[in-house]
Formats: sequence, structure tokens, C-alpha cells
Amino acid sequence: MENQTDITIEINGEKTTETIQPRTLLVHLLRDKLGLTGTHIGCDTTQCGACTVLLDGKAIKSCTMFAFQAKNRKVTTIEGLGKTNNLHPVQQAFWEEHGLQCGYCTPGIIMTLVQVLKEHKNPTEEQIREGLAGNICRCTGYHNIVKAAMSAANQLRNK
Ligand code: FES
Ligand code: FES
Repeated sequence: MENQTDITIEINGEKTTETIQPRTLLVHLLRDKLGLTGTHIGCDTTQCGACTVLLDGKAIKSCTMFAFQAKNRKVTTIEGLGKTNNLHPVQQAFWEEHGLQCGYCTPGIIMTLVQVLKEHKNPTEEQIREGLAGNICRCTGYHNIVKAAMSAANQLRNK
């Protein structure tokens, strides 16, 4: 049997210690062991961005990282961003501007935008599109996603 190891990670504000195999990917720890299925898998080859989460506040693709690399660090998933009755401004803006169709890409896109809007408080549409270069949406044509991002930026500035 493959070696196992214990790691402690803070996930959505709560510390947890998990027994993992060294080859366990972060996305598999989140989805399969912890039931955080809002983080999606679209490709498994670092192209689609559906698996994006925040690691110490920075957007990363969790299919490209071993869970072990997140040891003693902070991970935020879409479940930890806001609550149904208290959405994060980016989530709220997607709701209001209808920034999705099937929704498969949406958690990853929202997590990426959280970082993009931290870096660009008053972004241009181009900066948003550049920031989303690593996230693929097969449905929307991106128009309403960009609209939602601009609206979220506005909400965040007026907070
Ligand atoms: Fe991670 Fe596609 S599943 S980038
Ligand atoms: Fe369907 Fe983006 S809304 S892939």
C-alpha cells in the first residue's frame, strides 16, 4: 500500500487534518474527501480553470497541485466565499447580470475574478478578459461574465 501522510490545512476558515497519499491532488482532496464539490474538474490538464481555488488568497488551479503542497496553508473554495443569504459581491453580480449558463465554469471563474478584482480595483474590460485567460467557458461567449465582473468591481469599490 502506498505511503500515507497527515497534513493540516485551513479550508474555508477551518483547520482540518487529513490523511492523504503523496500523489493526491488538491482538487481530489477537496471534492472526494471533503465533499466540496463546488470546485469542478473540467480537464485535469491545467487548461480550463474549473478547479480554481484561492491558496493564501491567490487563485490557483487545484488540479495542478498536490494536496501536500497546501500543507499549513489557507485554501478558500467557492463554498467559503459567501453564503446563500450573504453572497460575495462577485457571486451577487453573477446572479444579477446572469453571468452563466450551464454554470460548470462558474465557481472557477468567480474565484479567479476575486483575485483579478483585488489587483484591478477599477478594471477595464480588457484587464478582466486578460485575467480570465486561464478559464474556459463553453457556453456564454463571456459577454455577461465580463458584465458581471464590471458590476462586481463597482460593488466592491462602493463597499
Ligand atoms: Fe484544473 Fe481544468 S480541471 S484546469
Ligand atoms: Fe457553461 Fe461556462 S456557463 S461552461
